[in-house]
Amino acid sequence: MSNENQATKAVLSGMRPTGRLHLGHYSVLENWAVLQKEYDAYFFIADYHALTTAFDNPSFIRQNIHDMALDWLAAGLNPECSSIFVQSQVKELPDLHILFSMITPLSWLERVPTFKDQVSQFSKGGKDIMTYGFLGYPQLMAADILLYRAFGVPVGEDQIPHVEFCRELARRFNYLYQKQVFLEPQALMSKIKQLPGLDGRKMSKSYGNYITLGAERKEIEQRVRQMVTDPARIRKDDLGHPEVCTVYTYHKFYNNDEHEQIKCDCEKGCIGCVACKKRLAARLDEYMTPIRERRAYFAEKPQLVKDILHEGKQRASQKAAETMAMVHDAMGI
Ligand code: TRP
Ligand code: SF4
Repeated sequence: MSNENQATKAVLSGMRPTGRLHLGHYSVLENWAVLQKEYDAYFFIADYHALTTAFDNPSFIRQNIHDMALDWLAAGLNPECSSIFVQSQVKELPDLHILFSMITPLSWLERVPTFKDQVSQFSKGGKDIMTYGFLGYPQLMAADILLYRAFGVPVGEDQIPHVEFCRELARRFNYLYQKQVFLEPQALMSKIKQLPGLDGRKMSKSYGNYITLGAERKEIEQRVRQMVTDPARIRKDDLGHPEVCTVYTYHKFYNNDEHEQIKCDCEKGCIGCVACKKRLAARLDEYMTPIRERRAYFAEKPQLVKDILHEGKQRASQKAAETMAMVHDAMGI
């Protein structure tokens, strides 16, 4: 395919503004930063989606939107290449969402895994209320994607059922109104290996096993010090097993030059865990420095960040308006 064609193909993704991002998110954002160079890229902060679970405590959302924009810009999203915007600012979205709600079979929504999980928690008394918005989560996500006629959606594995739902809805619309308005978007799974959390489990806010994106050196050092190492090593000269040690996994991610030597030294018992961690912290700090600097740059310019989100909204709205004209035409309304 020629580059010119490629550039007009849209990719889109979003994240719910749930707070500061961490290193685990960074690999996702790096992938977005690559895609933005090749495609017409849309990245949005999914504040409506945040409300599906946080409707009773929305006060933090505004601050989180700002933080998320800073994290994205710090990670290298470039507003010249990508349209970066806030989901709820594009006024065409609720229109498409309502129209979709007329054609979405209830059974399709009820069989989505996240909804089924919620129902089972509900029946166990875990949740005290089940909302229409939560049921409609995948349908809103389908509207997000189809509004920009995206061909590719970079997402994690957990979102695959949602993208599948979106494909079915696109097919259904095109079939009902006998017009090829929508493409069936593909999930673009990143090939990047997932960085584990500090304790070896998945890096997640709820496990508290993360390093904040843009963390200061002191914080990095402190987090690395808490990492669990090979439990068989009590004294420095005990022979180590780096393959069971998360510190070593991190060296493999961030310390290309030294990780082989570290493996050797650990296995022979000639490096202590304290020293090994110090070296990792130094590397992580180096890696984080440009991210931290970009974050600080934008943090000092709140108006610039607002302008970027405004500009992103303008571009997104333009594409959305085109789509809605096609939708209205197809439906004859
Ligand atoms: N559901 C996604 C998540 O929780 C966020 C999201 C909302 C999204 N709308 C989207 C992702 C559209 C990709 C495309 O991570
Ligand atoms: Fe892990 Fe490093 Fe200690 Fe080996 S020396 S167990 S790799 S922290």
